[in-house]
Amino acid sequence: MECILRKQVRFLCASRGTNKRKKQIVIERIYDIHNHILWGVDDGSDSLAMSLRMLKQAKESGTTDIILTPHNKPNRRNIYVTEMVDQIAQLREHMSRENIDINIYPGNEIYYRMDVAERLRIGKAATMAGTRYILLEYNPMDEWDYIRHGADDMLSEGYWPIIAHVERYVNVMKDMDRAQELINKGCYLQLNASSVTGEVGWAYKKDCKKLLKEGLVSFIASDAHEDKKRTARLDKCVSYITKKYGEDTAKEIFMINPSKLLDDKAI
Ligand SMILES: [Fe+2]
Repeated sequence: MECILRKQVRFLCASRGTNKRKKQIVIERIYDIHNHILWGVDDGSDSLAMSLRMLKQAKESGTTDIILTPHNKPNRRNIYVTEMVDQIAQLREHMSRENIDINIYPGNEIYYRMDVAERLRIGKAATMAGTRYILLEYNPMDEWDYIRHGADDMLSEGYWPIIAHVERYVNVMKDMDRAQELINKGCYLQLNASSVTGEVGWAYKKDCKKLLKEGLVSFIASDAHEDKKRTARLDKCVSYITKKYGEDTAKEIFMINPSKLLDDKAI
């Protein structure tokens, strides 16, 4: 695990009213645990140049640490862990040349299917930064029994599932008790920043609000795919969460929980 330098990142969050003074929010570090910044491996970044632009945008918006999570899906090209580690080393060299000071780590967004545990064992899929945490994705229309079974399967194999963009799963969101049940089992819930702030529609925003109000959300991440619309900027969402739910919640979601993840500690 890389040594994490302690450094403060300051955000200026405008308070209501144009004449009021701006309130300064201090969050020491901001982590992005779900994105498609690694180039040429999925439907995310298509070139090294784009990856570097995305990383610069992340840096400008205050992000200090990123777990790179290319898709790991059936019937797609899936990068092996060893290849990913090599590509990340290459990316670090380019980042260093361009003074992009962000810690990056390997991970995967793993689409649940029966052989996921086996894939993880043989290096065909990656956990989050080598920890017990995995970022687990389903089809938005998957049945609740299938989602629950997938979580149980991964937990019984000793992994700690983070349910990727949980707001997308119709059969979880229709009943808040199901979201709570996933957490009771030992799963963690992740939202996409663009869903939280309403950039991808009112319905997702409303569902995110329900989960946040109940305190069920452990992580919010960019799920960035490129450098124009689905970008790696988290500043807008950090400001939104701070304003709506308070600085402590923002710190927990963007800094404290991801930092525990990297230390392989339960949240
Ligand atoms: Fe994703």
